[in-house]
Amino acid sequence: MTALPVREAPSRALDVAAIRAQFPILATRMRGRPLIYLDSAASAQKPRAVIDALARFYERDYANIHRGVYELSQRASDLHEQARTTVARFVGASDAREIVFVRNATEAINLVAYAFLEPRLEPGDEILLSEMEHHANIVPWQLVAERRGARLVPVPITDAGELELEAIAERIGPRTKMLAVTWVSNVLGTVNPVHEITALARRRGVPVLIDAAQAAPHLPIDVGALGADFLAFSAHKVYGPSGVGILWARAELLEAMPPWQGGGDMIERVSFARTTFNRIPYRFEAGTPDIAGIHATGVALSWLLGLGLETVRRHEEELVGCALESLPRVPGLRIIGAPRARAAVVSFTIDGMHPQDIGTLLDLEGIAVRTGHHCAMPLHERLGLSATVRASFGVYSTPAEVTALTEALARIVARYR
Ligand code: ALA
Repeated sequence: MTALPVREAPSRALDVAAIRAQFPILATRMRGRPLIYLDSAASAQKPRAVIDALARFYERDYANIHRGVYELSQRASDLHEQARTTVARFVGASDAREIVFVRNATEAINLVAYAFLEPRLEPGDEILLSEMEHHANIVPWQLVAERRGARLVPVPITDAGELELEAIAERIGPRTKMLAVTWVSNVLGTVNPVHEITALARRRGVPVLIDAAQAAPHLPIDVGALGADFLAFSAHKVYGPSGVGILWARAELLEAMPPWQGGGDMIERVSFARTTFNRIPYRFEAGTPDIAGIHATGVALSWLLGLGLETVRRHEEELVGCALESLPRVPGLRIIGAPRARAAVVSFTIDGMHPQDIGTLLDLEGIAVRTGHHCAMPLHERLGLSATVRASFGVYSTPAEVTALTEALARIVARYR
């Protein structure tokens, strides 16, 4: 059974050695060397608790949910709803009906784009988003805008890689029907002032979606204090399994939204003449979901809450500090962006070397980083770059790994540049 999560563990330092021992993959070797995994922003590795929860669920608790009168199905359904309650606590929602399970953050944003926004969009309407958005928080809006004759309005960022409230305020007008903004940039690591942004949008009557895909692993979330209308994130970035996404939405908005995808479980009654729909959140959960994955998501979030998000944040701030101090010692290395608040992500380039080559050479040393545009092409265009190298951290990352990255880069530059 999933342990009920505490809201926040007491403040203490993270015992990183003990945490690392819980991640079997961190004991493996890559290219004959100990794995140094610096790509947690793409996907986090999984602790033993999550891996075991998946296996145990299939061994002891698995059946389809919401459909069986037999004990096993009821047990699986109970565990499923318990996971929903855990997610609600993780985001600070008082009502578990506000949690919709989808496949990933991308699908959560698509759901809002099609079920909430599209019916409200008229030709000439505008959707505000920032220049630092991930493609997942651009393309769904672009698709619905094209269907309705509306348009995207990008809010520029500063050279430091920050989003300023004035830039948003200037662009909110009578045609603005949505503001969609990331909490943390997956390239720059910038932590945006989302509380101020939502307050500004609310004063102007504009609904807000916060893309929390890169925030959820690093920062405490309290949707009550956030003041947004929608919030999306993926389980795989918060130490849970891949294939599960979460949409939190204010209950009254979900109640007013038409269904998006049709199928089993989202209906009340079906006839060839007419179908009526289930209550929220089930109305938005057509078909059999990733039942075991959702259970393991609850376990992952309980595990993360048990560490304490404030404690996690302090640990990752230390890692970012180490990276910002040591990486610039590599000849020709340039850190991208200089935001005042940065979460667990540092991207860089090295003069005279292609990011792809740097990534390949690091891999030969067992170091995993992401290279390319990181699904943020408009941001790279704004920065005048086609690609960068990105190192990103998780609860298991260590200052020694940051040092190893710096030393490997220095060797690569000395040998190949
Ligand atoms: N969105 C993920 C990343 O930034 C995949 O790498």
